[in-house]
Amino acid sequence: MIERTLAIIKPDAVSRQLTGEIIKRYELHGFKILAVKKIQITKSQAECFYYVHKQRPFFESLAGFMAGGPMVVLVLEGKDAIKRHRDLMGATNPKEAAPGTIRKEFGTDIEHNVVHGSDSRESAQFEIGYFFSGLEFQP
Ligand code: RTP
Ligand code: MG
Repeated sequence: MIERTLAIIKPDAVSRQLTGEIIKRYELHGFKILAVKKIQITKSQAECFYYVHKQRPFFESLAGFMAGGPMVVLVLEGKDAIKRHRDLMGATNPKEAAPGTIRKEFGTDIEHNVVHGSDSRESAQFEIGYFFSGLEFQP
């Protein structure tokens, strides 16, 4: 099934000059980049994006981190893109991520884990719409 998923190259990765390296991996793994842009969001916009975590102890810190510098947001398309992208990212905690995954190679700790990926069809739909308008998509 051809799916679309939202990817974020988080502020830690952008500030460490890892943007190109990570985009190269998306392309090498066969994802088509439908849309891409570099933005910096406010803390309240980050809180809205991660609203499912609002009761979690790390919520405040996560929102501050995501608003703390520019990030690169992308819409990736491909066969089973949601799961295949999550597999390429690796586990949330870089220390537990499998060898060869983006988080294993570049992640620093459980918060500073360099990339985000939608985890379901429903979240992909919400997240893509949160960052992109239809006019920004290129086939
Ligand atoms: P993401 O949403 O960013 O793709 O990450 P994920 O699904 O693998 O993990 P999730 O549970 O959704 O957590 C979202 C982000 O919150 C930070 N986090 N910090 N300090 C902590 O215990 C903790 N746990 C999660 C990470 O940046 C994680 O990616
Ligand atoms: Mg998540």
